[in-house]
Amino acid sequence: MNMQKTPEKWSTLFSPLSIGQKRAPNRLVVQAMEGNDGGPAGEVSERTRNRYVQLARGKWGLVVVEAISVDERSKARVNGMVMNRKNLDSFKKLVDAFKTENPDGLLLFQLTHSGRKSGAFSRQVALYDRDRGNAELLSSAEVEEIRQMMVEASHLSHEAGADGIDFKLCHGYFGAEMLRPSNTRDDKWGTSFENRTRFIRESLRELKSSLGKDGFILGSRISMFEGIRGGCGTASPDSYIEDLTEMKRLIAMMATEGADYINVSAGIPGWTSEITRPTNPSKYFYLHHFRYCKEARDAIASADVLSAMKIIGSAYTILREEAPDYAEENLEHGLVDMIGFGRQSFADPLYPEKLRTGEAINYCTACSACTRLMVNQLHDGCVVYDPYYRGMLKQLQGRT
Ligand SMILES: Cc1cc2nc3c(=O)[nH]c(=O)nc-3n(C[C@H](O)[C@H](O)[C@H](O)COP(=O)(O)O)c2cc1C
Repeated sequence: MNMQKTPEKWSTLFSPLSIGQKRAPNRLVVQAMEGNDGGPAGEVSERTRNRYVQLARGKWGLVVVEAISVDERSKARVNGMVMNRKNLDSFKKLVDAFKTENPDGLLLFQLTHSGRKSGAFSRQVALYDRDRGNAELLSSAEVEEIRQMMVEASHLSHEAGADGIDFKLCHGYFGAEMLRPSNTRDDKWGTSFENRTRFIRESLRELKSSLGKDGFILGSRISMFEGIRGGCGTASPDSYIEDLTEMKRLIAMMATEGADYINVSAGIPGWTSEITRPTNPSKYFYLHHFRYCKEARDAIASADVLSAMKIIGSAYTILREEAPDYAEENLEHGLVDMIGFGRQSFADPLYPEKLRTGEAINYCTACSACTRLMVNQLHDGCVVYDPYYRGMLKQLQGRT
């Protein structure tokens, strides 16, 4: 074990944090990152497991396992994973392998339904009519069925040994579609704020009273502002102007319902991608993410209860060498409790340990090749530092 001392200037970043009844050994988070390399039935493959073992070796405080579908009929990626009883053993093996390398690190599973963002190979479904293309409109009963699948998948995640779940409400997938002002369904799932938040409210209540007792971590990733007309972070179905009133109400509600954390993101990959993951020309979009975290903090303070709900921030990758200094400052100012990295975790799974010991770090160049591989349904990862993914990119280039 490397006993080198943690640099003093990042003492908060490397300090532990309680989340619900559990404790993360430091504030560094791997954001959910789809690698699209699961097995044929949506089980965790050896390749997928090995990626998480590498991250465990990096000693991140918390790792969110990439989007796992709760419904095998509606998946965004051909090789995406599916949480069901048939695949449970493979998820148990994933947790065991991770915990063997890093017993103190926390491991969450991100559970999702891809909704209208399900792949063309899959069943594409939508909650409301606008811009739905060929997607089928879901009935009231089908929405309730999806809610029950989310709850069931949470129980299976607990059985697999995960420390908690991330209930995905971000990036344009089903959970985000549900929250939008443009969800003008005329049943109990649409139009009013109460109806649009019913899905997460009822699920949280149900899970809190069962799994919450065991200290199982419950939280969600949200897109504070999606950047589309009538999207999350606007005030009406017809507006595209940012207005965070409802998203803050949602966060306050989740704090009141006892959620353990909120993971603050923004945008919709594929639609308003630069908002989600700033690239070199849009680098300063990270400032919006910082602001969204501040708004989330204000929202928690406005909740009806005194809440210990934690905030995870996103989009730190583009800051490269500057990231830990900004992270430390944001932690010290109380803007955020944990610091999330997406692409940087692909570029260098060992990032926290290297940061701590001063070893040279492979920095993400924000070339977006990982995304290109993913949207083309290939195994995806860092083409700059990993020859396997360079090979995938060549395969893709060979197709055109
Ligand atoms: C290849 C790829 C896969 C991603 N998969 C997920 C995912 O499964 N779930 C999720 O919430 N976000 C996903 N994201 C978004 C990232 O978690 C993250 O929010 C985004 O990359 C911005 O953070 P960064 O600047 O640190 O990379 C993905 C992003 C990329 C590039």
